[in-house]
Amino acid sequence: MTFRTRYTGLIDKYRDRLPVHDDTRIISLGEGNTPLIRLNNIPGDLGKDVDIYVKYEGLNPTGSFKDRGMTMAVTKAVEEGSKAIICASTGNTSAAAAAYAARAGITAFVLIPDGKIALGKLAQAMIHGAVVIQIKGNFDAGMELVKQVGKEAPVTIVNSINPFRLQGQKTAAFEILEELGAAPDYHCLPVGNAGNISAHWMGYCEYHEHGIVNSRPIMVGYQAAGSAPFMRGEMVDNPETVATAIRIGHPQSWDKAWNVQKESSGWFDECTDEEILAAQKMLTEREGIFCEPASATSLAGAMRDIKSGKIPEGSKVVCTLTGHGLKDPDTAIKQCEGSNKMLKVDATLEEVKKAILDNM
Ligand code: F0G
Repeated sequence: MTFRTRYTGLIDKYRDRLPVHDDTRIISLGEGNTPLIRLNNIPGDLGKDVDIYVKYEGLNPTGSFKDRGMTMAVTKAVEEGSKAIICASTGNTSAAAAAYAARAGITAFVLIPDGKIALGKLAQAMIHGAVVIQIKGNFDAGMELVKQVGKEAPVTIVNSINPFRLQGQKTAAFEILEELGAAPDYHCLPVGNAGNISAHWMGYCEYHEHGIVNSRPIMVGYQAAGSAPFMRGEMVDNPETVATAIRIGHPQSWDKAWNVQKESSGWFDECTDEEILAAQKMLTEREGIFCEPASATSLAGAMRDIKSGKIPEGSKVVCTLTGHGLKDPDTAIKQCEGSNKMLKVDATLEEVKKAILDNM
């Protein structure tokens, strides 16, 4: 029997394609290498002959794709001698920053919109020992403050305006290409700041330019309807959505993302909160995959475009599921309120047996 070598994170794996040196101290939690799962039931439910894969980024160490960028950003911050990092966040970036700072032995400061981040993410930032600064404002306000304070205090900004973040995140595209052996026809992502869609495109283009693959996907970005500046064609001042992770009205990678749309011949669209929650539930009930609401936006949009034929039959589609469902237990439980599958019975054999037989 031969044993595989131990997986030690994406910087180690893609060292030749990332800005690190041989002696760089790598701050890693074994991120990346996430499963690309082929959906078994949903294509049939849609009545369409399409191949849908989900890239389950919720299985990264802190439960979201942010770990890919954070391993790079914190590795470089430490290399440059930084003792503290800072970010504004709708929750996942703060969780990743807190964990990687703990790993590196430096301080993380996180600015989060008061009362508007999912419970799991808040718990993560707190338990890893980050300094949690709750602001009476939304993500966009926090981002502006972080940019200003970054000029006046000795802290490294680890939001996706830090170019090392996108370098790390581009590796998700490498993994998809390696597993499929070619580019998918369409790659669908939820869009907030639009860093991740830009990073994926960088990754796809890099393998294409180096002749490792000979095609690139059409990139499709879906936003929540109440927070859809790319659909409006202008910034949105008071974004609202149940998908708090993408409750962003002033995307930081605005120009980059429009370039992705043009270069890949892709498009942006929006999904209502109802569509997002329905896609989240469908994925859990029909495929056994639990992602957070923002993540389900990619599938919600893709399903609509597959049904309408905008994404034609015969296509191979990848949807990124950016974060784990456990990040936001409140929304999950609310989705199931009134469910006839939540029973309360006496602790007797009779009652338990009845509950089973009545629900077979
Ligand atoms: N999905 C999830 C679960 C996210 O947390 C985010 C962004 C996105 C999608 C959008 O990615 O910004 O690169 O377009 N979350 C950031 C945060 C803003 O602070 O955690 P994007």
